[in-house]
Amino acid sequence: MEKFHIAIDGPAGSGKTTVAKLVAERLGFGYLDTGAMYRAVALFLHEKGIKENEDGKIDEVLKKVSFDYKDGRLYLNGKIVGDEIRSAEAAVLASKYAANPVVRKHLSRLQREIADDRKMVVEGRDIGTVVLPEADLKVFLTASVEERARRRWKELKEKGDNVSYDEVLKQVKERDERDSKRKVAPLKPAENAVVIDTTGISPDEVANKIVKIAVERMRE
Ligand code: DC
Repeated sequence: MEKFHIAIDGPAGSGKTTVAKLVAERLGFGYLDTGAMYRAVALFLHEKGIKENEDGKIDEVLKKVSFDYKDGRLYLNGKIVGDEIRSAEAAVLASKYAANPVVRKHLSRLQREIADDRKMVVEGRDIGTVVLPEADLKVFLTASVEERARRRWKELKEKGDNVSYDEVLKQVKERDERDSKRKVAPLKPAENAVVIDTTGISPDEVANKIVKIAVERMRE
């Protein structure tokens, strides 16, 4: 089997990234973090002084943008995408630019090009619903908003970001609101997605569940 797509969607802090990486590692699949693409593009446009509602300019710039995925690393226009995308500011910018249909059109296209006919775990918000509607396995992860904010806060603190828990909780709520209410590709489970609530379950256990289902499907 050459191609097998596993779509893992869910809100911020649902454990997607940790789980998706574990699943990819255990199955020997490639791994694509589409949130990283939204973050990188948001910073890129922001640095160019292009606002999130400037459709014409965004279209022009994104037509020419290239993304590469090599050895588990993402490259934007040949330059490695680094930790600058992991700040709280980059997350807010990503969520704002991600509401623009022009941004989504280009990024969905680039994501399909990367996934192509590979064995891939693709993680995001709209992978099972929009980007890869034919994915072989669709998973939707959830967790309570407090647990998700706590995870995000811990992650930011470990990176030296001194933001308070209350601020992170507020940001996660605002981001949920924007991501699930936007007109294009809002965050929601695909009809045939396996929904897993990760509150109180370790990433290891969640990954095991997904790997088990994937292995069964690959045998079918
Ligand atoms: O998963 P993340 O926190 O790195 O994602 C950052 C933002 O990018 C998130 O607020 C919404 C947006 N996003 C999206 O709209 N669609 C995706 N497939 C992935 C991310």
